[in-house]
Amino acid sequence: MLFNLLKLLHKDGFIYIPQGKLLLKPILQGLGEVTHTAEVIPDRYSPALLRSTKALSPHTDHPKIRYIVLLCEQPAEKGGTSLLIDGWNILEQMTPQERKRLQSLYLKTHKVFPDDAPCFPILSYEQGTIHLYYTHWLASEKIKNNEVFQKLTTFIFESTPIQIKLKKNDLLILDNWRILHGRTAIYGYRKLQRYWIKC
Ligand SMILES: [Fe+2]
Repeated sequence: MLFNLLKLLHKDGFIYIPQGKLLLKPILQGLGEVTHTAEVIPDRYSPALLRSTKALSPHTDHPKIRYIVLLCEQPAEKGGTSLLIDGWNILEQMTPQERKRLQSLYLKTHKVFPDDAPCFPILSYEQGTIHLYYTHWLASEKIKNNEVFQKLTTFIFESTPIQIKLKKNDLLILDNWRILHGRTAIYGYRKLQRYWIKC
């Protein structure tokens, strides 16, 4: 089972497992080291994006995180649909020169781990794979005015995301170096457990 799931994760960049709660432990063990766990509960008064009820545009999480595992403990009454975009497909639409330029464009990072650098390139190649880091609200004004960044942003925002409405006990696993994730606005109570996994 784990073999087939990981094969699928490498093929598509994500796996959606309806009623997959029982597989949570073996999946976490198979993916790597869980470095951060968070309860994601919306609060419409919270200024923190993680806890907000607003729609979130497509982004990747912290660049050190290779996989994100989400367990739905309580779906929203309305909204809260996960939106997924294959970032590697977006990069493929850009020219080799533009991809080269993305390697020299850096976005800010949130300080989460002690050895975190203040910024990280949008595109890098690590551990034999492609690493996309994209969060448009962490871009400086200078980066926002860069035409290659603007082109990447346009491709991302104009692409049609895969939509998944998580139900209770569903699992969603994302390759954070490849899949951009967002969500629609949340109405009512919703609770997800989020696991961040380093390679
Ligand atoms: Fe996120």
